[in-house]
Amino acid sequence: MTVRTIIEYPHPNLRLVSAPVTVFDEKLKELIRDMFETMYQSQGIGLAAPQIDIQKQIVVIDVSEDHSQPLVLINPKITRREGSTAIDEGCLSVPLDYRAKVDRAEKITIEYFDEDGARQQRDADDLLAICMQHELDHLQGKLFIDYLSSLKKGLYDKKLEKYRRYKRKAENAKKSEHA
Ligand code: NI
Repeated sequence: MTVRTIIEYPHPNLRLVSAPVTVFDEKLKELIRDMFETMYQSQGIGLAAPQIDIQKQIVVIDVSEDHSQPLVLINPKITRREGSTAIDEGCLSVPLDYRAKVDRAEKITIEYFDEDGARQQRDADDLLAICMQHELDHLQGKLFIDYLSSLKKGLYDKKLEKYRRYKRKAENAKKSEHA
């Protein structure tokens, strides 16, 4: 198993639309194992393949605290949405541990394939339903910060740009120190 590199906003590849999985083989299972490893190592509850720069419709989720409920969603589609809810969301691809509330359906029904290529369907609510909606957005090139007001988004972009400038400066200082 390998921990993969997570790409971060504003990386342009996070905006690509993912293709459906058509081959269910050992290579796919290996990729899924890597995705779980990467997600657990970053203490996330969900990870979509595009976050490791692979534009395929694969999502891994585990909302438990002890890694006991691993769930793989391949080529997932939400077929029913009910109610509305919002919690503070974050994302492994959105730097500075930024959090914001996003309107989501409270209950959903989701259809997907498991890692063996078998068709599955299940209902979800609460955190699991929110997490599924967040991860499925990644497959369409969408991030939770896209739902923010332009004012909030602008503030976040400014903060991130400031942080990146600071980081570059610190890295350059370190380089000249070792030159
Ligand atoms: Ni995310």
